[in-house]
Amino acid sequence: MSARPTAPSPTHADGVTIRTQRPGERPEVREVITRSFGTAVVADLAEALQDAPAGAAGLSFVAERGGRLVGHVQLSRSWVDAPKRLVEVLVLSPLGVVPECQRQGVGSRLVEHALREAIRVGAPLVFLEGSPRYYSRFGFETASRRGFTAPSARIPDAAFQVVTLPRHEPWMTGALVYAEQFWALDCVGLRDPNA
Ligand SMILES: CC(C)(COP(=O)(O)OP(=O)(O)OC[C@H]1O[C@@H](n2cnc3c(N)ncnc32)[C@H](O)[C@@H]1OP(=O)(O)O)[C@@H](O)C(=O)NCCC(=O)NCCS
Repeated sequence: MSARPTAPSPTHADGVTIRTQRPGERPEVREVITRSFGTAVVADLAEALQDAPAGAAGLSFVAERGGRLVGHVQLSRSWVDAPKRLVEVLVLSPLGVVPECQRQGVGSRLVEHALREAIRVGAPLVFLEGSPRYYSRFGFETASRRGFTAPSARIPDAAFQVVTLPRHEPWMTGALVYAEQFWALDCVGLRDPNA
């Protein structure tokens, strides 16, 4: 299945504007991410990805309501190790909406905006780790069923998801290779605290 992000879905996210994160907004975005996830490490990941030399600067988006940031989503570059060559792809991570604004369509608006931007910049594929129940509505499907290999055995098969975009070609398959920052901050898959 391909993404169908052309038309914004009807949501209750009234008064919410989705736009590119501005350079001075790091503290507010850090607060949004930390409050959404309940931990600061995800904010550290978002900033590390923004600072990466080959980073996807400008692919970080915020949801603003009444002059306040209430959500954030980020796309960053990783690769698929295809037989022919490495293919630049995008990873959608993190996505967060502050607790008091969840279940109002803000997350959906952010994902839809991110996918439109991914198409605009010519990305062939967007990967993520997350709930299939949530992300399937945007066209994401189990990546292993499309022939992709997860970058870690600690990612549950159902959580490893991909959406194919118009620039995708059939030869672009193989293992997803995460950018270094995901490893440096240990933000890949699930750890077993009892192992
Ligand atoms: C996940 C998250 C971004 C969704 O944002 P949101 O603005 O609440 O989402 P929307 O209002 O667009 O969509 C709400 C729908 O998502 C579902 N949903 C929300 N979080 C979900 C989750 N973790 N797993 C599965 N479904 C989820 C709701 O049940 C609801 O479903 P419905 O439309 O069938 O009733 C938000 O809940 C959040 O920030 N969670 C904490 C951080 C997190 O887990 N981020 C995702 C990491 S992959």
